[in-house]
Amino acid sequence: MLKFDFNKKSPAMELLLLLCLCLLTRSGVTSAQLNRPTVISVEGGADVMLPCSPSTKEDIEYKLFVWRKVAQKDDGLKEVFDYNAGSHYNNGLDGQSEAFKGRVSHFPEELEHGNASIIIRNTKISDSGEYTCDFPQLKPPQTFYIELVVDPLKDRSAIRGAAQEPYITTLKATKDWELLQCKVNGNPEPEVKWQDSAGNQLPAEEPQVEKRGFFYITLNVTKSDRYRCVATQTTIHRNISAETDVHIYAHSSGPQTYPSDQNLRKVMIGVAVGVLAEFLFS
Ligand SMILES: *[C@@H]1O[C@H](CO)[C@@H](O)[C@H](O)[C@H]1NC(C)=O
Repeated sequence: MLKFDFNKKSPAMELLLLLCLCLLTRSGVTSAQLNRPTVISVEGGADVMLPCSPSTKEDIEYKLFVWRKVAQKDDGLKEVFDYNAGSHYNNGLDGQSEAFKGRVSHFPEELEHGNASIIIRNTKISDSGEYTCDFPQLKPPQTFYIELVVDPLKDRSAIRGAAQEPYITTLKATKDWELLQCKVNGNPEPEVKWQDSAGNQLPAEEPQVEKRGFFYITLNVTKSDRYRCVATQTTIHRNISAETDVHIYAHSSGPQTYPSDQNLRKVMIGVAVGVLAEFLFS
């Protein structure tokens, strides 16, 4: 721990103190607490991104941010998404409201750029309302307001030829890998993709094939995760997905494994930022 004795004044110390005060004042002034909510509209059934970023754009990988849906007249407050230094609602953290389970994710790769945005998939009319994105541990704490309007008249599932929810099956499984197949209908032809739980697109085993009006795409997975099959029909703005949990018992490194030096780099940056913060604010 780095500690400074501010009673022993030196010119360098005074300069540092001034810098601290300046930083604190700046983040206070730019706080969005007085801002009006950002309004976002979406067609029912589509996915929507709710944007949020602290005014300082600082690295929030080791910080806390909390997304809530404000209580409406006929509905209580809802816990939408919590992220706390790596733990979140999609990797074991408890407390998410039932209404949002399995539909919300964040952008892990974007945290270091201060991006706390979330995606809500398959929006429902009942998702309409006011949301808050909070950074309770920042100095000063910051809160952002977003109003989501889900348009009932634009429910794409009512359109003829709209793809229905994809159907996922396991074609083959060994202790090291599993071969997943995703089957989707739809006309116009949907574009079908596989993603991991972090939203990264994964390379399919073979190109999308069509058989009697259904489209098939297979994926070979070598690590435990939640995998999502996403079907998109751009011309009718239809986007629908299904997901499945895969447990691989033998731990082997496959193409989906992240390079560990990248993680190490992030930890190092996190530690460096932590030390710097300690240095500035103690
Ligand atoms: C956050 O990241 C997502 C995905 O990369 C991007 O689309 C979005 O614009 C970013 N938002 C902010 C507030 O930086």
